[in-house]
Amino acid sequence: MQDEKYNNIFANNKKWVADKVNSQKDFFHRHYESQNPDYLYIGCSDSRVPANEITGLDMGDLFVHRNIANVVANNDVNTMSILQYAVEVLEVKHIVVCGHYGCGGIKAAMQPHSFGVLDNWLRNIRDVYRFHKLELDDYKVEEARMDRLAELNVEEQCMNVIKNAAIQEAYILNNRPQVHGWIYDMRNGVLKDLNINFEEMLKKVQEIYNLEEDVKKHQ
Ligand code: CO
Repeated sequence: MQDEKYNNIFANNKKWVADKVNSQKDFFHRHYESQNPDYLYIGCSDSRVPANEITGLDMGDLFVHRNIANVVANNDVNTMSILQYAVEVLEVKHIVVCGHYGCGGIKAAMQPHSFGVLDNWLRNIRDVYRFHKLELDDYKVEEARMDRLAELNVEEQCMNVIKNAAIQEAYILNNRPQVHGWIYDMRNGVLKDLNINFEEMLKKVQEIYNLEEDVKKHQ
């Protein structure tokens, strides 16, 4: 089957390589040597929310993890490995959870239907709905309710980042990383910092999930 769009990918790549090498001879070699990103970005897999593009950051600046509706689940060995690697090896300064308005995952979680194996994943978001049902049910327009759930989901996933032992340990020992919650508006391209209160969230999390004593013991 002749698929021009598919074949274009390799033509595009050739041009991209030539452009990079033209502007900087050792571009690829320099990146091959090491990576030193300041940020771990956890975002949605949605093809319309490309992490580097919306932040204007270059290759090597962002360590990226994406899944449906930017969920941080403690039984997801993928996300948990990313978190640990980001703080212990890459020593990132910031961890960002970035949600977006118009998120298909959020929308699906709000439907009273089964989506097969996806239900297990959507349950993480349905739980967020349950925590905030009173507030969310006040939104009479479905789109507004979806937008609000997308924001609350970001907050909850930030909380899940903070619950992680590697994150608490890094914060106690090195005062990093800071955790941030962002939301991207696909309707106009605007990226917004939700300004979550990281210190307060950390305090709240540590009332129950406090791992500080253990960290001290290992000193
Ligand atoms: Co999405």
